[in-house]
Amino acid sequence: MKKILEKSKRIILRFTENKDIDFVIKTESNPHNAPFIVPWTKQQHKDAFLNKDILHLIVDDKLTNKSVGYVILAGLKNPNHSIEFMRIVITKKKKGYGQETIGLIKKIAFEKFKAHRLWLDVKVKNHIAQRLYESQGFIKEGVLRECLLSNNKYDSLVIMSLLKNK
Ligand SMILES: CC(C)(COP(=O)(O)OP(=O)(O)OC[C@H]1O[C@@H](n2cnc3c(N)ncnc32)[C@H](O)[C@@H]1OP(=O)(O)O)[C@@H](O)C(=O)NCCC(=O)NCCS
Repeated sequence: MKKILEKSKRIILRFTENKDIDFVIKTESNPHNAPFIVPWTKQQHKDAFLNKDILHLIVDDKLTNKSVGYVILAGLKNPNHSIEFMRIVITKKKKGYGQETIGLIKKIAFEKFKAHRLWLDVKVKNHIAQRLYESQGFIKEGVLRECLLSNNKYDSLVIMSLLKNK
């Protein structure tokens, strides 16, 4: 039985289970997604399912019942009420699933988990994701210059956040 956390018009957010792991790994390694994230191993994902500080969720389309992405939130127990929106990957792009998922993530973070701050980092070159976050109210706070080393190249990260009442 799937354990649902939130629903909206078109999507369901439910807890990721072991049987979703192949979908998650395949999605993460897809060349349309891999350059924009820092992929985890199977074991890292499985550990996250059991970690009470982390929410690992699958995005399902309500109508087709098919998975269209996944998200990870971390810091549920953060003493400063600062939750990290660690990852979002949507497989069926440009159909509004990202916007709808972030709408639910804000609800989960601020209403269910009483966050004061929801923050994320995003690669400088990931303009699509940055535009999406900005359209959802996230504010750019600054840049961590060349803080990531991947494929022998340094990448910079933009830090963005949303505060409860601002
Ligand atoms: C970034 C990402 C999550 C966005 O998800 P998405 O479901 O494609 O996002 P949406 O469809 O809600 O919105 C994206 C764009 O599609 C447009 N869009 C939404 N519905 C649309 C529709 N029905 N027809 C055409 N365009 C549409 C939006 O206006 C938006 O356009 P913009 O970039 O010009 O602002 C997705 O592209 C992804 O998984 N990327 C790879 C991983 C990644 O970058 N993750 C974030 C790491 S920080």
